[in-house]
Amino acid sequence: MRIDIISIFPQIFEPTLGSSMLGIAREKGAVSFAVHDLRDWAEGKHRTTDDYPFGGGYGMVMKPEPFFAAVEAVTALDDAKPTVILMCPQGRRLDQSLVEELAGRERLVILCGRYEGVDERVRTLVDIEVSAGDYVLTGGELPAMILVDAVTRLQPGVLASETATQEESFSWGLLEYPQYTRPASFRGMDVPEVLLSGDHARVDRWRRTEAVRRTAERRPDLLEAAGLSAEERSFAEDILGARETKGDAL
Ligand SMILES: C[S@@+](CC[C@H](N)C(=O)[O-])C[C@H]1O[C@@H](n2cnc3c(N)ncnc32)[C@H](O)[C@@H]1O
Repeated sequence: MRIDIISIFPQIFEPTLGSSMLGIAREKGAVSFAVHDLRDWAEGKHRTTDDYPFGGGYGMVMKPEPFFAAVEAVTALDDAKPTVILMCPQGRRLDQSLVEELAGRERLVILCGRYEGVDERVRTLVDIEVSAGDYVLTGGELPAMILVDAVTRLQPGVLASETATQEESFSWGLLEYPQYTRPASFRGMDVPEVLLSGDHARVDRWRRTEAVRRTAERRPDLLEAAGLSAEERSFAEDILGARETKGDAL
């Protein structure tokens, strides 16, 4: 997969793209990243990328011409047709199913806005607008990094085991079960005996039950589509009942 990012703050990306799993993914050739400075396509001595909003009002708006020139030039860098993404709080909220969809594309070009956002005409360049969540940040760079991280870890060969993502939160319809590592006993808190038993069938059953419990406690909205057995559904309903009696806390 090839990912091109267009931003007026390209320097923000390198520490993240060069570190840990993203850095390794790049070294292995599972994904290639290129970060482009939008100002390279801006005109004038000051290479200005923003201007006052027509109609008046607060703040600045990002000009269309640099984005059009940048997307055309960056698209031409590779034969593969890219999916062009605008990071935008008004876009489709990022979740694991959108991550999986985008992870299957050969090429992404990600546009990062700043200020009051981009001139409306920039949207004609874009295949999909993606939001990191229902809150407003100062720029699209952090949301872009979230998206890049999430799609990169799904590329073949990036994680040590392809099965690592299969039982993760959201991937299998449930939140993940609790995880423990050594020591087996710490400050009076003991690892559940079943995890030390070496009995894989029992461990699998315990994990599935705990995943259902955790999802019922924290994200009951996910249960409907989680494909629960009748027994699991009744277990989840008991937990939901207890939760209602107790009242909802933070
Ligand atoms: C301050 S925001 C502009 C918000 C815009 N005025 C609005 O009300 O929708 C500036 C830029 O940050 C990025 N941004 C801010 N919050 C975001 C979010 N939740 N998800 C994705 N991008 C976001 C977008 O690229 C946006 O163009």
